Amino acid sequence: MKEKIKIGIIGVGNISEEHIQSYLRSPDAELYAFCDINSDRLTKMGEKYQITRLYHDYHEMLSLPELDAVSVCTWNSAHAPAAVAALDAGKHVLCEKPMALSKAQAEQMREAALRNNRLLMIGFVRRFGNDCAILQDFIDQDYFGELYFAKATYLRRKGNPGGWFGDKSRSGGGPLIDLGVHVIDLVRYLMGKPKAVSVYGATFRKLGDRSEIKGAAGYQSSGKTDHDICDVEDLATGMIRFENGAVLQIDASFSLNLKEDKGEIELFGTKAGAKLNPELELFSEDCGYMTNVSLTVPTALSFEDLFYQEISHFISCVKDGLPCRSPAEDGVEMMAILDALYKSAATGHEVILSQED
Ligand SMILES: NC(=O)c1ccc[n+]([C@@H]2O[C@H](COP(=O)([O-])OP(=O)(O)OC[C@H]3O[C@@H](n4cnc5c(N)ncnc54)[C@H](O)[C@@H]3O)[C@@H](O)[C@H]2O)c1
Repeated sequence: MKEKIKIGIIGVGNISEEHIQSYLRSPDAELYAFCDINSDRLTKMGEKYQITRLYHDYHEMLSLPELDAVSVCTWNSAHAPAAVAALDAGKHVLCEKPMALSKAQAEQMREAALRNNRLLMIGFVRRFGNDCAILQDFIDQDYFGELYFAKATYLRRKGNPGGWFGDKSRSGGGPLIDLGVHVIDLVRYLMGKPKAVSVYGATFRKLGDRSEIKGAAGYQSSGKTDHDICDVEDLATGMIRFENGAVLQIDASFSLNLKEDKGEIELFGTKAGAKLNPELELFSEDCGYMTNVSLTVPTALSFEDLFYQEISHFISCVKDGLPCRSPAEDGVEMMAILDALYKSAATGHEVILSQED
């Protein structure tokens, strides 16, 4: 039996802690090395998790021949260069969402995985929830009939985390690429991953990051400073039409004058509908009556358990060659959708996705 999979982490900020805790829980993984360009954070995380192989430059870490795989948990602009370097060094990669800043970068990453025959998994963590598995069961048993419309909502009233999140050169955009990506992916995954054929999008920069506004400050980037740039949209809305005729409406915000933050998906089919917020409710017609159904099993997992499911799957794919549930091509398709939504917002026109997208 092969030894434990030796893991390196590139970018040891906030979300890396979920990866690290999950690797620590996994009997088949060994946390082996950390890399971050921020010296203080690297030292602190090394001490916290007793990791002594610490690097500022991921190329150095990747030259460790015994390292098997890495989690890429950097800000978005470093995903593509770090993942390509890791794949070219022969390592398997789990890359956080969004896959990259653009479809072009995402394609380079997928090609690097192919040419090196290594796994590139994208961290679409919502795919690993109980709610997703339960909805999938209902969909597989044709509970909904034809799913022809969906709404994905991820709205925050004062939810720009600051730091790199507001800096387009490092994030690629605001709430659409940061939050919208989660819910667009979940809906598309549940619908059987249809290809997008056209999109219409609009973005707004009206309220900024609201750093001066008093009120709950629930979302704080580890890199937040007093002189953060904010050149990303604060609201994005869009419509995505899929090849099977289904349409998804998406709304995502960092700043918006709404009563309370809201994160939900709604699916509408010919036989039934569903709402996930965060518990699952089903809406149908039975015996000539409109009925609402709630489940007697818990449908939501904790954040930690979601990540544990994702990381366990990554380890199983690397160790046992399991087919990946969240492969690179899904990240490429997502980047094509996001590129098209931003392009539509910039031009004011519908964008048709080409056959190759
Ligand atoms: N799946 C989820 O639910 C979820 C939640 C939050 C964040 N994320 C994603 O995780 C990623 C990180 O987000 P975060 O909140 O942890 O940010 P963060 O700022 O807390 O951490 C990012 C770290 O990457 C480091 N870094 C940047 N460039 C680097 C490079 N070239 N080499 C090494 N280190 C580098 C930074 O110094 C920083 O410590 C983002 O892509 C974000 O979208 C995913």
